[in-house]
Amino acid sequence: MRTQVGIIGAGPAGLLLSHLLHLQGISSVVLEARSRKEIESTIRAGVLEQGTIDLLNDTGLGERMMREGAIHTGTELRFAGQGHRIDFLALTGKKIMLYAQHEVIKDIVKARLEAGGEILFEVENVTLHGLESSAPTIRFRYDGEPVELQCDFIAGCDGYHGVARPALPASMHTEYQRSYPFGWLGVLVEAPRSSEELIYAYHPRGFALISTRSVTVQRMYLQCDPHDDLANWPDHRIWEELHARTELNDGWRLKEGRITQKNIVAMRSFVTEPMQYGRLFLAGDAAHIVPPTGAKGMNLAVADVRVLSHALGDYYTSGSSDRLERYSAICLRRVWKAQRFSWWMTTLLHHDDNASPYDLRRQLADLDYVTSSRAAATTLAENYVGLPMED
Ligand code: FAD
Ligand code: DHB
Repeated sequence: MRTQVGIIGAGPAGLLLSHLLHLQGISSVVLEARSRKEIESTIRAGVLEQGTIDLLNDTGLGERMMREGAIHTGTELRFAGQGHRIDFLALTGKKIMLYAQHEVIKDIVKARLEAGGEILFEVENVTLHGLESSAPTIRFRYDGEPVELQCDFIAGCDGYHGVARPALPASMHTEYQRSYPFGWLGVLVEAPRSSEELIYAYHPRGFALISTRSVTVQRMYLQCDPHDDLANWPDHRIWEELHARTELNDGWRLKEGRITQKNIVAMRSFVTEPMQYGRLFLAGDAAHIVPPTGAKGMNLAVADVRVLSHALGDYYTSGSSDRLERYSAICLRRVWKAQRFSWWMTTLLHHDDNASPYDLRRQLADLDYVTSSRAAATTLAENYVGLPMED
């Protein structure tokens, strides 16, 4: 098999890259370890930045998102018995969209298949070869048969646990990371919305987040121990914590419903530098991870492949590798700012049992500042709605 760009992973990064290349007349084949059904039903992110909304609309992928997603112009921070609205639109002129990651995935898969795009699901034993050469290859098993895909370039879009990043020679890159003593217990709930906007709540019992998926399905998260077991979280305990951490004395009540799904995720910050080696380019979670508090992961994946598609477009139209050479440097400037924001939102809103009384007081001052100073609120808002995407 032969293609111009071999893409490993059909997450938001790999699928969108394949679509953006197609719009420029560049061929690609996407290799995905899981089934179509699985990638289209895994519950993950929900918040799209203004730049992500615009990109999906500008490239013909936004129709269902605009119909079924919910535009939000602000969010609420709750702490010390009070709620405070951060007005994104007034502070930045920008909005966000609540539209589930697996719905974005469904929309791109459909667009790619309708355009004759090649996505091979349930591939096995993916290995990368000849990265330093001008003709790298990807070997894998498909339908039980060994296959070799010859490419001009390989895009490693296979997430944090993929095979692309380990294919970089260890001596040629540096990994930066940080772990947190926090996990998120996420639930999907069949219930009406309790609030028009997302609620991020800091509470001495731990962080809680009230998000949404539709008028009838809600997404909620609770800070828990990253090594906690779901068996410790019967439904009644989840509701007790969600009520205690989000409700104030103003009569607002969180609406309960049937919990249809539960999961626990640990948090980590991670960056690999550079994000490229020879003819291999990493994008999205394969290259960097953020804790979910700032809702940045999927949006960073989108920003990376936007840069990569422009760089590959330059190469195929003018033969210039200039932008390909600068790919990692262009992405990392924005990635590190999202790292900073995600770390800050996480430490601002979670309760650390090991924090000193001094640190807890300082944390409350940080919350007070961000909700009482227009300058500080603007800083939060402009990062949340998304910093400008670079070319
Ligand atoms: P992935 O989505 O991980 O896709 C990688 C794909 O590669 C997968 O389909 C995988 O099966 C495939 N793959 C892996 N290994 C191989 C292999 N060897 N061969 C072939 N295929 C392979 N981000 C936001 O922007 N906003 C949010 O609100 C948000 N909330 C989140 C909430 C939670 C609870 C979690 C866990 C994450 C959240 N994120 C959020 C992060 C976001 O989900 C990820 O950053 C995003 O999925 C990254 O996309 P990706 O395409 O880089 O990687
Ligand atoms: C959602 C996830 C996030 O990480 C976040 O910060 C806000 C919302 C969500 O899944 O809806």
